[in-house]
Amino acid sequence: MNIKTYNAVSEKGLDYLSERGYQINGDEAPDGILLRSQDLHHETIPDSVKAVVRAGAGFNNIPVSELSKRGIPVFNTPGGNANAVKELTVAALIMAARPIISAINFANETRGGDVSLRTERNKGSYRGTELYQKTLGVIGLGNVGSKVANIALSLGMDVIGYDPGLNANTAWRIDRHVHHAASVDEVLAAADYVTVHIPYTKANHHFIDAKKLAQLKPNAALINFSRSGIVDDEEAVKALDDKKLRLFITDFSSEPLLDNDRVIITPHIGGSTVEAEDTSALMAAKQMDDFLTSGNIVNSVNYPDINEPFLTPYRIGILHENVPNMLGQISQVFGKQDLNIEELSNRAVGDYAYTLVALNQLPADHRQAIVSDIKGIGHVLNVEIYHNPDADKAE
Ligand SMILES: NC(=O)c1ccc[n+]([C@@H]2O[C@H](COP(=O)([O-])OP(=O)(O)OC[C@H]3O[C@@H](n4cnc5c(N)ncnc54)[C@H](O)[C@@H]3O)[C@@H](O)[C@H]2O)c1
Repeated sequence: MNIKTYNAVSEKGLDYLSERGYQINGDEAPDGILLRSQDLHHETIPDSVKAVVRAGAGFNNIPVSELSKRGIPVFNTPGGNANAVKELTVAALIMAARPIISAINFANETRGGDVSLRTERNKGSYRGTELYQKTLGVIGLGNVGSKVANIALSLGMDVIGYDPGLNANTAWRIDRHVHHAASVDEVLAAADYVTVHIPYTKANHHFIDAKKLAQLKPNAALINFSRSGIVDDEEAVKALDDKKLRLFITDFSSEPLLDNDRVIITPHIGGSTVEAEDTSALMAAKQMDDFLTSGNIVNSVNYPDINEPFLTPYRIGILHENVPNMLGQISQVFGKQDLNIEELSNRAVGDYAYTLVALNQLPADHRQAIVSDIKGIGHVLNVEIYHNPDADKAE
């Protein structure tokens, strides 16, 4: 199979695919597209493409709705840079406890005479505090927030988390010593440090607004390494001016935040590490390979995830619209060909659904008929046969 890449995708991902026999940017029509931030909206995506995988979290560079209608799943790699964001959040916490930046500036600016003696004499105003036994409030306990909560425990902090939509995949990773708050108010009232790790959605626009800022302890520090727009920056500056907030550290610059010595801004570098690029590329390559060889869907943004061990010799993956009576019609096709279904999985998300049918037998002379009969069902968008040679040997 041939994979077309855009952008410089890390070698970790490309090697994974090459080692499994994939051509990278070969001459044949591509079976999949692997990319980072390339804008695909104006590119022609050939009919041979069965999957588009983005090494990274955001996917607004991909025409998702057009691809959904063509029965092409689009994947991303959520959490691929979570460790990078976690580590920078730890740096932010330490910067919020100790006046590191001003202390470094002081050391650099102290010149002449006995520098060592002068720095020693004047260092008094750079005394900080410790994170140990302070309370950290973590809003959003997903890929990033769960990691931040856990590492804060190992710094000796008390951690109180809030996430009403906690996903089962991340829930089990959260240390049992993290206190789960019933409301965000509980977190705001208890925390000495508050860090937000939630997605930017319509509902989360200005999630930290004037009302929530007013609930914070006046000595609290607020950290935003999520997205611009989650904190109302103008209101945060007002809270700082009114001494209702001690410090605001954010990865997202904006006009109201500039020239304020109670604000620390980093230029959206939370996920920017060499390792995060490698991790995301490897995740993307594995997801691509898993889908193209076994029909498993993991981390799709437009089709439901179905991730099951491929134990039978054959599977048929059917991407279709989410409308009534699809399963009945699909089952009938197998009945007509006198083929027994070993297992059938079906899930839907929004307007689209995925059905994965596992078979112990699929005689070669039935394959074309099966595919064309399934394709003939209204609302079916794509059909693919997957073969598992290991299961043949096991038979
Ligand atoms: N600064 C960077 O460079 C950088 C890098 C990676 C991710 N991010 C951002 O970090 C954020 C978190 O990423 P993630 O990978 O952990 O996402 P995730 O999807 O794994 O987790 C987000 C969690 O937030 C919860 N949530 C949503 N709305 C909430 C609300 N109003 N209150 C409480 N919880 C809520 C969800 O239930 C989910 O568990 C995202 O905004 C992401 O874009 C930033």
